[in-house]
Amino acid sequence: MPDTGGSLMAARATSVAGVVAPVTGTAFPHPDPTAFPFDGDTLTIGGVRADLLAARAGSTPFFVYDRTLVSRRVARVRAGLPEGVELSYAVKANPLPALLAHLAGLMDGLDVASGGELLRALDTTVPASRISFAGPGKTTGELTQAIAAGVTVELESALELERVREVAGRLGVRARVALRVNPPFAVRGSGMRLGGGPQQFGVDSEQVPELLGRIPTAEVDFLGFHVFAGSQNLDADSIRAAQRATVELVLKLAGFAPAPVRYLNLGGGFGIPYARRDRALDLAPIGENLAELLETSIRPRLPQARVVIELGRHLVGEAGVYLTRVVDRKESRGTTFLVVDGGLHHQLAATGNFGSAIRRNYPMAVAHRAPGAPPETETVDVVGCLCTPLDLLGKAVELPSARVGDLIAVFQAGAYGLTASPTAFLGHPAPRELLV
Ligand SMILES: Cc1ncc(COP(=O)(O)O)c(C=O)c1O
Repeated sequence: MPDTGGSLMAARATSVAGVVAPVTGTAFPHPDPTAFPFDGDTLTIGGVRADLLAARAGSTPFFVYDRTLVSRRVARVRAGLPEGVELSYAVKANPLPALLAHLAGLMDGLDVASGGELLRALDTTVPASRISFAGPGKTTGELTQAIAAGVTVELESALELERVREVAGRLGVRARVALRVNPPFAVRGSGMRLGGGPQQFGVDSEQVPELLGRIPTAEVDFLGFHVFAGSQNLDADSIRAAQRATVELVLKLAGFAPAPVRYLNLGGGFGIPYARRDRALDLAPIGENLAELLETSIRPRLPQARVVIELGRHLVGEAGVYLTRVVDRKESRGTTFLVVDGGLHHQLAATGNFGSAIRRNYPMAVAHRAPGAPPETETVDVVGCLCTPLDLLGKAVELPSARVGDLIAVFQAGAYGLTASPTAFLGHPAPRELLV
């Protein structure tokens, strides 16, 4: 996740009893000022005014995703990466069926992390042979779904290999399998680490040769390797170093494979800016590095390998906005609170409670104000409607004065938003999601 350092939860937990530790920050608009332009005082998303979108949704809060921004982002990533590198979308970032249908036309593949995501991915036009299924703890039922459908199972353990063999034998098919490797290195700069040291993800690289030697080729069609070692990284140099180390590792492991490597998933981890101090990831050096690796190592040594970069948040995160309405406004001992009808039950990450080390304000704006609104700005805390101090969407945010009924937009809400939030907490209705 975006931040490093102590979390809000931790800060509060360690504060003097009854005193909430201060968390500072001011609001700032969306990092790309062209993404969601204002029409007068009103934010537009996909060219539609926020107040009209609220009317269309029928209720607040709700999420809106701009398909043009998603397409634009995919095009930008493709332009930055060398030709021949395939792009896979990690469905976990945002599994909304309408968005998946849109992405299906733009991606080379989809990556899923559960039987539920698998069924959604299979509903799209992406062929099963271009769908991969990664993640620990796949049940025999999920493996059965995946193998029957012909998707690539990315093995996370030796026991999973046994299960795959058993399921393939029972179904009378050859399972398409890649091995997820837990590398001996961690990726510097990742907001979330998924590789290096002991991990529930993948098979430790030093155990891989022995496991490859045990692959039952009658039941298992071994395709290649997957290394996904980190997420939310804004440091191009770290990503370059990880990609180089990954290729080096895979070239060594390929010598133990029971078949030529036809699939090489180098992971991704491309981040997006969430906090004011974050800088957008520079794709150019990553693309140059990949081009060099392709030319000097991958193509000569693994000529049959499809090379895949797997991205979630970078493709959809910045295209989403969470819109919520002010339901109360109050002063408390010098602080002005805007209380909105949304909160952490829909947008946990923006409150700093989804793996953030330090809570920092996400970019936000007043998306629509009633006619005749006061011209001044003010500094406010934007809090959600849940009865917990964790439900803090914006701390000391400078915003145009907002009144009850006005709309607040929280940006960077397209990835790990609704489905990464505790929607059942306090029993509020589920928000709508619109794709425009
Ligand atoms: C295997 C795998 N692929 C893809 C992703 C997506 O990461 P991101 O959305 O940061 O691109 C993750 C994230 O945890 C993952 O574990």
